[in-house]
Amino acid sequence: MTEKILITSALLYENALMHFGHLAGAYLPADCYARFERLRGNDVHYVSGSDEYGVAITLSAELAGRTPKEHVDDYHAKNSRLFEKLNFSFDHYSRTSWEGHVAPVQRIFLDLLENGYVEAKDCEELYSEEDKRFLADRYVTGTCPSCSYEKARGDECPSCGASFEATDLKNPRSKMTNAPLVLKRTRHWFLKLDMMKERLKEWIATKKWKPNVVNFVNNYIDDLHERSITRDLSWGVPVPLEEAKGKVFYVWFDAPIGYISASMEWAKSQGDEELWKKYWLDEKSKLVHFVGKDNIPFHAVIFPAMCMGQNQPIKLVDELPANEFLNLEGRKFSKSEGWTIDIDDFLTKFSVDQLRYALAANAPETQDAEFTYKDFLQRCNGDLVGKYGNLINRTLTFIHKRIGKTPKQGSLDEADKSFLAEIERLTNDVANAYQNHKLRLATHLIMELAQTGNQYFDHKKPWVLAKDESKREELETVLHNCLLCIRSLGLISSPVMPESAQKVFEMLGEKRELAKCKWDELLAEPLIGDLQEPKLLFQKLEESVIEAEEEKLKKRVVEEPEVTYEPLKETISIDDVAKVDLRVGEILFAEKLPKSKKLLRVEVSLGFEKRQIVAGIATSYEPEALIGKKAVVVANLKPAKLMGVESQGMLLAGSDGKLLELPLIDKLPPGSKIS
Ligand code: MF3
Ligand code: ZN
Repeated sequence: MTEKILITSALLYENALMHFGHLAGAYLPADCYARFERLRGNDVHYVSGSDEYGVAITLSAELAGRTPKEHVDDYHAKNSRLFEKLNFSFDHYSRTSWEGHVAPVQRIFLDLLENGYVEAKDCEELYSEEDKRFLADRYVTGTCPSCSYEKARGDECPSCGASFEATDLKNPRSKMTNAPLVLKRTRHWFLKLDMMKERLKEWIATKKWKPNVVNFVNNYIDDLHERSITRDLSWGVPVPLEEAKGKVFYVWFDAPIGYISASMEWAKSQGDEELWKKYWLDEKSKLVHFVGKDNIPFHAVIFPAMCMGQNQPIKLVDELPANEFLNLEGRKFSKSEGWTIDIDDFLTKFSVDQLRYALAANAPETQDAEFTYKDFLQRCNGDLVGKYGNLINRTLTFIHKRIGKTPKQGSLDEADKSFLAEIERLTNDVANAYQNHKLRLATHLIMELAQTGNQYFDHKKPWVLAKDESKREELETVLHNCLLCIRSLGLISSPVMPESAQKVFEMLGEKRELAKCKWDELLAEPLIGDLQEPKLLFQKLEESVIEAEEEKLKKRVVEEPEVTYEPLKETISIDDVAKVDLRVGEILFAEKLPKSKKLLRVEVSLGFEKRQIVAGIATSYEPEALIGKKAVVVANLKPAKLMGVESQGMLLAGSDGKLLELPLIDKLPPGSKIS
């Protein structure tokens, strides 16, 4: 029975070019899955598109000196072209700035409002009299309420790591113009997620997602609170209420609805505007969201909650393959630091399928993974040339030279039978792997099948059989079985390497498009094609080429501007210094603060008393590694709350903007004075 499968890849923010990390996380696994399910004969609808609203976009557009619309038009065009080049098989690739996106967003909001899930509240926000507009956190800078650092961001302090609301900043200013900001009353609409807690909990309990996703989601639901879904901004989907004039929806409210509006745009292009309902409004269709781990709350909780509050029965997510991150040569991808690989440039030297294969084989499924050129070389030469290409090339060359046509299968001995059984087993295992979103495993099994073929070929020694005319039947049987293996190999590798698999198929004399064939039917067919002369599938990579790429990457980073030093603060007197009471503090316990990347909660002994300190050092220190260490504590600092936790003092730490380091004390006991 054919199944309806609705597949989405997280919409891409159009303020940068995509990099390998995006591909490996939410895109390539989805494309492979879509391609696989189509081969299985299922009714697949795969959509994605550009995420074009929100402050991240307006800010980046402003920095680039163009309007948000110009900015997203440019990136939408560039990224769509990259997806095409990379052979993505979207049924539709849309964008949230298309006019048809407005109606579904407004309708979903109005349903939520009508059903009591949305509430308006007055609040105060930072406003620029000069620009006559409210400024979002990211546009704001000011003095840190906790350490008085003067260039704190609107949401956190890079100096002490404290997190806060922009309205907590002292002396708030516009990041763009440095103009002072004032607090001004405004009104916003809130999604009352807390009302849906029970329903969400029950629903989540029915899901068999990865344990880390389920755990995360359950914790998240435990302290679910209402969230504002509107913004005082001009770039976004307008809020359809008279009293909300000039306001737009928060980007995370409109973006997931972009999946639905993408299907609507597709339906329109098919000449039947109702067609999207077949996937979105039918309980029987299966919805699979491919996302990166940072998108889990929105896809597992917030978007489903939005859909639960609707008058029409919008599909809730069924499967949520959430991937971890992909790093590049041991570091995070970073456009600003040049630590990235230009995909266009990469594809002038390497093929799309080499890239797709290497990313799939290294997909960050259960933990963060890494793209390294060394690994890429090994995958291309070891796997694609040495295993996959080798079997195909040696078999087809042999047949072409010695037999000329498709060899016939005669009687089978034990080795033949077990080889054929192995082909069947591995082919089925690969199908299961695709179905369960285990792309890494799928690529691994594909190479195992190629190796099994190579071993069979070595074991049967067709070059020896060919010397003996009486062994003709045996020879043809061996080669026939190798062709069966190659056909399976082409089929099962085609979701990952569609272009190469198609070439394999053509070499077997097939005229059809592999992507349009059906998995089971194809495997049951006899081999009848008119074998073609083998062509090289994958170029062997030279080590020097790879080394040149590694060098290029390293050089790009070295060319970054020199370290800049902050100017010294104004001169102070010895009395000012004496006001600060520094003490040796022994760290008794440390743990990460939930929901914060930077903050640790640390318990410190000052000898005469115990303190709890929230310190922004989590990016440089594992909590366990701190226990027993003696650090320097500002012991007379007024307590402050950071992310709801009281901090009774401060740990001194040095930083160059990237690395953080605590000055540590060796012999002095806790409580000792430092002056
Ligand atoms: N643009 C977001 C990101 O890159 C993802 C949006 S996914 C959607 O993190 F569901 F909102 F569409
Ligand atoms: Zn600070």
